Amino acid sequence: FNVPNIENEPMKPYGPGSAEREGLKAAYAQMEKDLPFEIPCIVNGKPVKTGKIQKQHLPADHARHLVTYHEADEATITAAIEGSLAAKAEWEAMPWADRAAIFLKAADLVAGKYRYQIMAATMLGQGKNVWQAEIDAAAELADFLRFGVKYVEQLYAIQPPKNAAGSWNRTEYRALEGFVLAVTPFNFTAIGGNLCATPAIVGNVVIWKPSPYAIYANYITHKIFLEAGVPPAVIQFTPGPAEAVVAQAINHVDFAALHFTGSTHVFKKLWKDISNNVDIYKGYPRIVGETGGKNFHVVHESAEVRNAVVQSVRAAFEYQGQKCSALSRLYVSESIWTNGGFKDQLLAEIEKIKIGDPGEWTNYMGPVIGRPSYDKITSYIQKAKDAGGEVLIGGIGDDSKGYYVKPTVILTKDPKSVTMVEEIFGPVITVYVFPDASFSETLHLIDTTTTYALTGAIFASSRPALIAATNALRNAAGNVYYNEKCTGAVVGQQPFGGARASGTNDKAGSMSIFYRFVSARSIKEGF
Ligand code: SER
Repeated sequence: FNVPNIENEPMKPYGPGSAEREGLKAAYAQMEKDLPFEIPCIVNGKPVKTGKIQKQHLPADHARHLVTYHEADEATITAAIEGSLAAKAEWEAMPWADRAAIFLKAADLVAGKYRYQIMAATMLGQGKNVWQAEIDAAAELADFLRFGVKYVEQLYAIQPPKNAAGSWNRTEYRALEGFVLAVTPFNFTAIGGNLCATPAIVGNVVIWKPSPYAIYANYITHKIFLEAGVPPAVIQFTPGPAEAVVAQAINHVDFAALHFTGSTHVFKKLWKDISNNVDIYKGYPRIVGETGGKNFHVVHESAEVRNAVVQSVRAAFEYQGQKCSALSRLYVSESIWTNGGFKDQLLAEIEKIKIGDPGEWTNYMGPVIGRPSYDKITSYIQKAKDAGGEVLIGGIGDDSKGYYVKPTVILTKDPKSVTMVEEIFGPVITVYVFPDASFSETLHLIDTTTTYALTGAIFASSRPALIAATNALRNAAGNVYYNEKCTGAVVGQQPFGGARASGTNDKAGSMSIFYRFVSARSIKEGF
């Protein structure tokens, strides 16, 4: 059989007076009226209120309380793991068409019945504007689920090409033995859902530790999974501190895989902890992670200036620079920067950016996610100044109501200065202007400045320049773009992920990631 044709979920318009705007506004207003929400753990399909309470406030207005959530305690995590293991055999044995149908239905619930609700939760809880919420919580989440089903269908069809006379070879793609731990980030509602759905589609059971900053949208995602027919114990929703939830999961004999998106530092720590435990596990756990980035644009002297400016502004400042793919290092050839007008156009574009509460609809930028992020970003601006960087625009924040940081451009003469090297995860870019004649030296610099290798973009109309950059930067980015911004990979179109310190590069939104969550069995039958 064939699963239905898959297309990317179309973006809806939210223009003034549109039915979409009215629908989303109504959902948003209702949610604002009803907050704060109480969110339990969900174990075996049932709410568990542990009484270990945490609160999240609105990033746009920290006086307003969005959710109170219950952290999983030891007994809850034990129940979640045991429940998932007990549910595993039946889930894995469910006919593939039925498992596929469940996730296709979940995608339709995301894109239809729950679209405005999950978008409103993403806007309120994670500080996204309408457009950013649409591309994440509606379109990308639905795409991950639908394309995931299609990819698994293709995976299952991959069979040995040869059968000797009198025999038949088959390959069976079994789920992993044990459970998968999904540790998910705040910055994409879609990633939260996908890190659970990817292993679950191929028959795994999942313990889900969501980010404390994405609890509400992730909780709605979990509710959608249950409503679509994911059996109650197959994905367990267990928020809580990493020290507790994650440690208990990776200390368990049945721990089979980590599916992670978050910081490089945390991922490395988990990798070490898992390695130290290798003797207790039944098998060698799969460790799949997407971590930090220090993403670049390089603008060659042959580049089309206007396009490079517009793409750079979007890559740097959409969602306040809090995409793992966001632009952070901008290398511009001298003639483009000065005579070409790049600098003036860049600053003029940034001047136009409106910042404020995402609920006001017309703001291009909203708040950063919380106090620690705000402090980290503003301290990097200070570090850049201390190191002799010149703040061309922005450079200040305002945390009196929400966590707002102005779009900031730092010009540096030192291409290895701190904000050229370390990940900031906020609306700050550092510009290094290079002599036109030093393009190849600059490519070498880009390649060797940081330990990360997530995304990058090359702006040039010269084909030899594109080829030179592509070759010199062969290992500097898992996703590279020509004359397009370094953010916004689309599921099914640009498989996403980076190598080096940016992750295991297993490519979300492609078939290859599904291999990581199956353990194949070869069967030979003689006749
Ligand atoms: N996939 C997103 C992008 O490409 C980042 O996670 O922007």
